[in-house]
Amino acid sequence: MKHRIALVGFGTVGQGLAEILLEKREYLKTRYGYEFDIVGISDIAWGTAYNPDGLDITAMLNAAKAKQKFSQDLKDWDALTMIRKCNATVVCELAFTDLETGEPAISHCKAAFETGKHVVTSNKGPAALAYTDLKAMAEKKGLRFLIEGTVMSGTPVLNLAEGPLAGCEITAALGILNGTTNYILTQMEAGMSYEDALKKAQELGYAEADPTGDVEGYDARGKVTILANVVMNTSLRIEDVSCKGITHITPEDIEKAKEENCRWKLIGSVKKEGDKVKASVAPEMVPLSHPLAGVMGATNAITFATDLLGEVSVVGPGAGRKETGFSILTDLLRLHR
Ligand code: HSE
Repeated sequence: MKHRIALVGFGTVGQGLAEILLEKREYLKTRYGYEFDIVGISDIAWGTAYNPDGLDITAMLNAAKAKQKFSQDLKDWDALTMIRKCNATVVCELAFTDLETGEPAISHCKAAFETGKHVVTSNKGPAALAYTDLKAMAEKKGLRFLIEGTVMSGTPVLNLAEGPLAGCEITAALGILNGTTNYILTQMEAGMSYEDALKKAQELGYAEADPTGDVEGYDARGKVTILANVVMNTSLRIEDVSCKGITHITPEDIEKAKEENCRWKLIGSVKKEGDKVKASVAPEMVPLSHPLAGVMGATNAITFATDLLGEVSVVGPGAGRKETGFSILTDLLRLHR
């Protein structure tokens, strides 16, 4: 079966995914029997292009890189129209993240399910604010809502918990889930000012469009909510997660941590306590001997506490064009399997 893919959002992640699919077309076919066409792309900046037999991916990438509208832009088709009318089997929701309303991504996911299409997304909005409802909606129609890229980009976290770790009870998850803040804390330890470190993180593309979401801990809070709901099968709301960011940490605090053989880390934590799940985001002074203390720069890490394996940790990228593009590919292949 040839998969028909529609992309909603053709920015960094959408283009990263398209590049990977283009480069790996033959490999995906011979190694996994995975064949595909990208039939539709809708982006707020470049417009909407649709061809039920498959678009020319190179031409789409060239237009976006040249910051030009798609030449075949269907002016009267917005993203919702494309989702509803296209012949895709799966919609990749890669539009911008809004952790307050989840829109327009939640509406995109709903439209896809209503018209019989799977959804794969790295967008934290729908995953953090409406995971339980959207998953139920998908399941009712025999569809999937796959969201690996929402936590630690393509580094396997959610699929690891749901796949290879199935059968283990995960009782806690503790992690560094935001690359921007870990990068800032690392640079401050090396003597850079908070402002310069944040500016550098923005230049390197780690930070959210509005970096307040990173430094105040809201991005990590979204990820912690997703972890709780996917891994512990609960229905925590984002406002149930206590949240403190790193904006109050001073160079003096960094020095004090050094003197005590510790290092500041923004820690996201989810724990089962009886039949309740408690979750938080807060900066902590972590002893240098702790495995998370050695995770530096924009790298992310998570440790799952399990009943059968003890602690299982994963360290890897938490953001980036190829890294998040890969998170979508991994879920597309999961759908294929
Ligand atoms: N702004 C996020 C981070 C990007 O710094 O981790 C990935 O979600």
